[in-house]
Amino acid sequence: MIRRAVVSDVPAFAKIINDCAEYGLMLHRSMAFLYEHVRDFFVSVAPDDPAKIQGVCGLSVVWANLAEVYSLAVAPEFRRQGLGRQLVESCVEEARLLGIRKLMALTYEKPFFESLGFSVVDRQQLPLKVWSECMRCPKNQACDEIAMIRVLPEIPEQFAPQAPPPALDAYIVPVVLRNSGKSPLSS
Ligand SMILES: CC(C)(COP(=O)(O)OP(=O)(O)OC[C@H]1O[C@@H](n2cnc3c(N)ncnc32)[C@H](O)[C@@H]1OP(=O)(O)O)[C@@H](O)C(=O)NCCC(=O)NCCS
Repeated sequence: MIRRAVVSDVPAFAKIINDCAEYGLMLHRSMAFLYEHVRDFFVSVAPDDPAKIQGVCGLSVVWANLAEVYSLAVAPEFRRQGLGRQLVESCVEEARLLGIRKLMALTYEKPFFESLGFSVVDRQQLPLKVWSECMRCPKNQACDEIAMIRVLPEIPEQFAPQAPPPALDAYIVPVVLRNSGKSPLSS
């Protein structure tokens, strides 16, 4: 059974995501991030125990015409039972309700996403905003994930303004000066 996540689910689905992150399959997510973004997530739960989390998937709105399916993970003992498919389809339905025409995923699971109607696209086609998270990824410039997109043809294009290029200070990471205990941003 798929349902929206509630805050009490967070510790269980954080473990599923972060176990996959240990294998380099996705980004690690802090508990703080997951509580903050809990409304992004759907979970798969056991029919006889709605508190038992089997898998999880998030949907993040990127821009008027684009949302990202992210942190998709099914616990190993529940894989190949259709749960991953149901989780992604819940995100597709959510995008439809929001009026968003395209869904994207950055993934190593090309056949899985192809079976769900996604196609490989040139990564350069994706808006810069998508790559903001790469700053936190250990692979950063050496990213080998495949960019895939599914279009919902029934949803009309939104004529929204383009995302502006990121400001230069978006690339500046605050550091605490050694020995002073002060942040360079605090003076
Ligand atoms: C990718 C993942 C979410 C798939 O979940 P799942 O519950 O096992 O997938 P499903 O059982 O719903 O499979 C859906 C379809 O994809 C196919 N499929 C699933 N995993 C596949 C794989 N590794 N290779 C090829 N096909 C695959 C299934 O055969 C099924 O096709 P069908 O409906 O025609 O039979 C799961 O393997 C996982 O958690 N992997 C580790 C984390 C990860 O890589 N996440 C993706 C990050 S974007």
